[in-house]
Parts: sequence; C-alpha cells; structure tokens
Amino acid sequence: MSSAEKSYRLALTGAAGGIGQALALALAPSCSAMLLVGRDAAKLAALRQKLLAQHAHLAIEIVAADLASEAGREATLKGAQAVSGGINLLINNAGLSEFHAFGTQPAAQVEALMTTNLLSPILLSQKFLPMLQAQSSAQIVNIGSAFGDIGYPGFAAYCATKFGLRGFTQALRRELSDSAVRVRYFAPRATKTSINTSAVDAMNEALKTQADDPAVVAQAFVEFLAGPKNECVVGWPERFYVFMNRLRHQVTDQAIGKQLATIKRFLPN
Ligand SMILES: NC(=O)c1ccc[n+]([C@@H]2O[C@H](COP(=O)([O-])OP(=O)(O)OC[C@H]3O[C@@H](n4cnc5c(N)ncnc54)[C@H](OP(=O)(O)O)[C@@H]3O)[C@@H](O)[C@H]2O)c1
Repeated sequence: MSSAEKSYRLALTGAAGGIGQALALALAPSCSAMLLVGRDAAKLAALRQKLLAQHAHLAIEIVAADLASEAGREATLKGAQAVSGGINLLINNAGLSEFHAFGTQPAAQVEALMTTNLLSPILLSQKFLPMLQAQSSAQIVNIGSAFGDIGYPGFAAYCATKFGLRGFTQALRRELSDSAVRVRYFAPRATKTSINTSAVDAMNEALKTQADDPAVVAQAFVEFLAGPKNECVVGWPERFYVFMNRLRHQVTDQAIGKQLATIKRFLPN
C-alpha cells in the first residue's frame, strides 16, 4: 500500500481470539473498514463494540462462521464482498494448537489441525484472490508460528501445519510477485492466549521460554505491516534459531523471480 493510501479494508479471521483481538485494536487506526471473522458471534459483537467506542469512523462487519467448512468460507467471502471498495488486507489468523505425543494423538485432532491451520487459510485465500487482485494494492498475511520453522517435540502435527502455511505463503508470494497482491508471513513465538493449555504454560515456565503479551505481538505486526519484509518471526532467541533453520531464503526468492515469466508460460490457468 502506498503512503498516499493508508486505509486498510481488513478481513481478519480468528478476530475474537487473543492475538486476533490485539491485532484488531492495533490496526484499527489504519483501517477504514473491518470484517471480523470467528465462530462466536457474541465475542465478535463485543469486540465490534470495543472498536467502535475508540474508532467511531470504522465500518465493522461481523461474520460468525466455521472456516473449516466450505459454507463458512463462502459466508466470509460474501461478507467481504459487502465491504465498500472490497477487502485489501486479508489476515489469516484463525488457528488451533494441540500439544500431544504424536504416537497417541487422535487422528481427528490431527485432521482438525490440518483443516483449520492449513487447508482453511489456503482455500480462503483462493476465494479472496479475485477481490484482492482487483485492488490497486492488496495483501494476504498468514499468521504462522516460530514452530513453522522450528520442529518442536509435542507439536509435530501443529508444526506440520505451520511449516505448510509458510511454504504456501512463499510459493504464492512468488507466483503473484508480478501482481499487486503481496503475500506475507508473520510468526509469533509463544504468546499468552487461551490457545495454550495449562500444560504448555507450565512447560514454558519450566523451560524459561518467554511468552509475549498479545499487545506486544500486535505492535510487532503493525511494524511488520509497514515495513519491507515478507516474513517476520517475533522475539529473540527464536528469530536466531529460525534464521539458522532457514539460512537465506531471499537468494532463492531472487533466483525464482528470474524464472517467473518462463514458469508462467507453462502454468495451466
Ligand atoms: N498463542 C501462541 O502461543 C501462538 C504462538 C504462535 C502462533 N500463534 C498463532 O496465532 C494465531 C492466533 O492464535 P491465538 O493465540 O490468538 O489463539 P486463540 O486465542 O485461541 O484464537 C484463535 C482464534 O481462531 C478462531 N478459530 C479457530 N478455529 C476456527 C474455525 N474453524 N473457524 C473460525 N475461527 C476459528 C477462534 O475462534 P472462536 O472464537 O470462534 O473459537 C479464535 O478466535 C493462530 O494461528 C496460532 O497458531 C499463536
């Protein structure tokens, strides 16, 4: 988004969650419209009231929908289409986490993680693409995790979803790099929200793993959104370990950027 046009029309999934609420509050000053998406209509309505109390100018719509279902994603798109001017910033934030020994993790739990954290943001992004591509400038930001780089015991299935989301983000960013749609990835580390069970909180405390307040994560997001980077991991030493895992993806970004025109000649539409 250019400096002349600072008004986001935001669709935010998982808006009523810990990080979602903090993001909505932190982004409100730079938004003209917001579409708040989650499953709990009452929580979304309460957030809407809170936002309006501080930002009376904001046009805020709510969609109470299960993003794991096609019907829920379609309802979200319909809500977005009702926003005047259309959405120019989609933040895929809704997510689940499960801390479990993988060998005994129920298959249904693994499936729910895959569906909510990976399949739903992928399919929702695809649904939103025509609207985003119609904007002069638009973004998709996928909320990943430090565990989208660092495979961590007890989180094998969760890590797989976030590694997958990061891969999707990177591939789509490169595929759309000659378009007005920018695709980015923002990865919090442990954050104090109800996604983490008491066992996870206790483990983090025992390991002296720092957990951020959601407001701190949201502030980091605001800075990320305004900056040039396509990927961001919140916090230290997580960022260091992620860097060691990744080395330098920008080199590959550039190399594949040079191939893009050729790739597109062969790409089925
Ligand atoms: N907290 C952490 O330690 C941490 C660390 C790294 C990354 N993250 C990531 O940050 C994101 C937000 O997490 P959080 O910590 O804010 O967790 P949270 O407080 O539990 O919020 C998650 C939100 O996702 C929504 N959601 C889950 N499944 C959904 C579905 N099927 N359809 C629609 N909405 C659904 C929930 O909606 P309802 O209100 O309707 O239930 C909830 O508002 C997640 O992607 C998570 O993986 C969190």
